[in-house]
Amino acid sequence: MQTLAIETTCDETAACVLRDGRIISEAIFSQIALHRRYSGVVPELASRAHLEKINHVVRAALEGAGIKLPVGKRPPTGDTKPHGVPKKNKKIFDAVAFSRGPGLPGAILVGRVAAQTAARVFGAPLIGVNHLEGHLLACEFRKGRADARLKFPLAALIVSGGHTELWRAGGYGEYELLGRTRDDAAGEAFDKVARLLGLGYPGGPEVERLALKAGRKKPVFPRPFLDGGLDFSFSGLKTAVAYYLQDNPRPGPAAKAAVCAAFQEAVADTLAAKAALACRKSGLKYAAAGGGVSANSLLRERMAASCASEGASAVFSEKKYCADNAAMIALAAQRRLESGRRLKHRVEVDPDLKIESWGR
Ligand SMILES: Nc1ncnc2c1ncn2[C@@H]1O[C@H](COP(=O)(O)OP(=O)(O)OP(=O)(O)O)[C@@H](O)[C@H]1O
Ligand SMILES: [Mg+2]
Repeated sequence: MQTLAIETTCDETAACVLRDGRIISEAIFSQIALHRRYSGVVPELASRAHLEKINHVVRAALEGAGIKLPVGKRPPTGDTKPHGVPKKNKKIFDAVAFSRGPGLPGAILVGRVAAQTAARVFGAPLIGVNHLEGHLLACEFRKGRADARLKFPLAALIVSGGHTELWRAGGYGEYELLGRTRDDAAGEAFDKVARLLGLGYPGGPEVERLALKAGRKKPVFPRPFLDGGLDFSFSGLKTAVAYYLQDNPRPGPAAKAAVCAAFQEAVADTLAAKAALACRKSGLKYAAAGGGVSANSLLRERMAASCASEGASAVFSEKKYCADNAAMIALAAQRRLESGRRLKHRVEVDPDLKIESWGR
């Protein structure tokens, strides 16, 4: 089974050719340099950059897989009738997939149009994938192959720039939301705290790097536990850091490192405790974390330990696949096709797409 996938929900333009769970070729263009001066993603700039790069990225992924973009005969002038797919183009792909949400509307639309065009060119069905489901399934990749199959049922922690959610996943395509953030996403909190400290963007890797330099003495920030439920809240924690910096202005490198370490610990402890609580409440023996923040080493350590204390084992994706990529979208499409569930193959763009189970 061979799939072409396109990812454009935020600030990465990515394409991948996946064959039977093996990454044959992938191409990615990151817009980080473009957004860095604004300390965050500017939606209009993101859409324009996707538009500029999408053809190069898709072509590079295809060429990397030895697939030439088929060039059809130019229709006679004035001929507006749709032309059929040349026979040799058919059967190259079982599906063309793209992230249909959640994400930035203009950005997703660029991926949608590119995927639709590719689906036409290759005569393959178009599949719209939930980007967050992709973040979960990215946990299956090891050295370019989706060999590390998730064990179900599991508690899925999705922690990224725009989302912090806990789901019960009963199997591929069987999801139930257990909790979500009531305000900021964990990644957003990392980015905002980094900005307060005058660090670079994206903030997560900067905070993690600086935290390593912290000594033993550091402030203690609150762990927002919200009454033992499975929802999250990170805006109070971010405000606590802002107040701390008001009381301790102009921090030097050592003080900044201490703040980074204390903040990171508060986030990691909270996420790890909630993941373990989800395992306990739902009687789950497995947990998995995906999304950009799941690249954080302290979070991995704390979550592995907290889940183990509930008799559950936690898995994470390879760090490269925590951030946005097209391989995870291709894999989600392949798992869906393998399931035999015809699903509704929804292909409309939905910037607020929620996690939902596949149709039977
Ligand atoms: N090592 C790290 N520690 C903590 N946070 C990190 C780390 N690496 C990346 N992040 C954070 O992850 C976020 C980006 O993750 P990702 O690319 O999955 O989010 P997104 O695609 O923008 O949002 P979403 O997936 O919700 O649509 C940023 O907020 C970034 O600061
Ligand atoms: Mg993402």
